Amino acid sequence: MRRILLLGGTTEASCLAALLAQAGIAAVFSYAGRTEAPLAQPLPTRIGGFGGVEGLTRYLRDQRIGAVVDATHPFAAQISRNADAACRAACVPMLMLRRPAWPGDPGWQRVPDIAGAVAALPHAPTGVFLAIGRQNLAPFAALPHRWLLRLVDAPEAPPLPGARVVLARGPFSVEGDRALMQDHAITHLVAKNSGGAGASAKLEAARELGVRVVLIDRPAAPDRPEVAKPEDALDWLHQTTPRGV
Ligand SMILES: NC(=O)c1ccc[n+]([C@@H]2O[C@H](COP(=O)([O-])OP(=O)(O)OC[C@H]3O[C@@H](n4cnc5c(N)ncnc54)[C@H](OP(=O)(O)O)[C@@H]3O)[C@@H](O)[C@H]2O)c1
Repeated sequence: MRRILLLGGTTEASCLAALLAQAGIAAVFSYAGRTEAPLAQPLPTRIGGFGGVEGLTRYLRDQRIGAVVDATHPFAAQISRNADAACRAACVPMLMLRRPAWPGDPGWQRVPDIAGAVAALPHAPTGVFLAIGRQNLAPFAALPHRWLLRLVDAPEAPPLPGARVVLARGPFSVEGDRALMQDHAITHLVAKNSGGAGASAKLEAARELGVRVVLIDRPAAPDRPEVAKPEDALDWLHQTTPRGV
């Protein structure tokens, strides 16, 4: 029987893992290994990179993988590109499981990337909630703001001069995010267009408080079939690898 490789790191990936386990479908869950204590999954789990396209292609062949579901975060563009190339090389079908992006809001300033977000912030010092995780912080160091960062794990070194770090794992509530931004006198929020309900609380809280929102657009995704719901991913797997599931 050919197994499914589920590339995880999102709520949707965890939901699909539960569905696969329930259905008794042979699958491996893969984490990048970015967080210290990743959520336990009801599937055999591997942690760490594959070693680029070549390593992933080898893994697909060696492990006799019958299909790949890429349920990584919409901003994890490298692993999605690698998975696309490796699946092509190993002739393995691939599905994207991604939550829809948040639709535009006239109150948000949309920018294409991190550099655009840096350029969109004011020059005079102010309070900025930089809700983009711990990667890609360096370009903001040139600005003089009081930064508020929300991270899953405590950083080893101060991630940015003038930064306060709050440790928390989502999903978050509008009330909690409103209080957080009030406590830190936040005037600007920088966020990625991740989509999903759990991450949208900060946008609603910002709207209520009149905080300016700078929203970073998603990077391009591979041209592959895409679904938003874990149940639809399961249907796709049934149709695509009928003998494997
Ligand atoms: N980027 C975000 O904003 C964000 C937010 C929340 C969660 N995450 C999760 O955190 C993980 C890392 O994100 P990222 O933006 O650093 O990824 P990335 O830039 O797209 O990937 C960098 C490298 O990390 C490894 N990798 C990433 N996801 C993996 C997975 N699920 N299993 C095995 N290896 C993986 C791969 O290493 P090799 O080349 O060695 O295979 C990949 O080339 C992802 O799984 C993503 O779902 C990311």
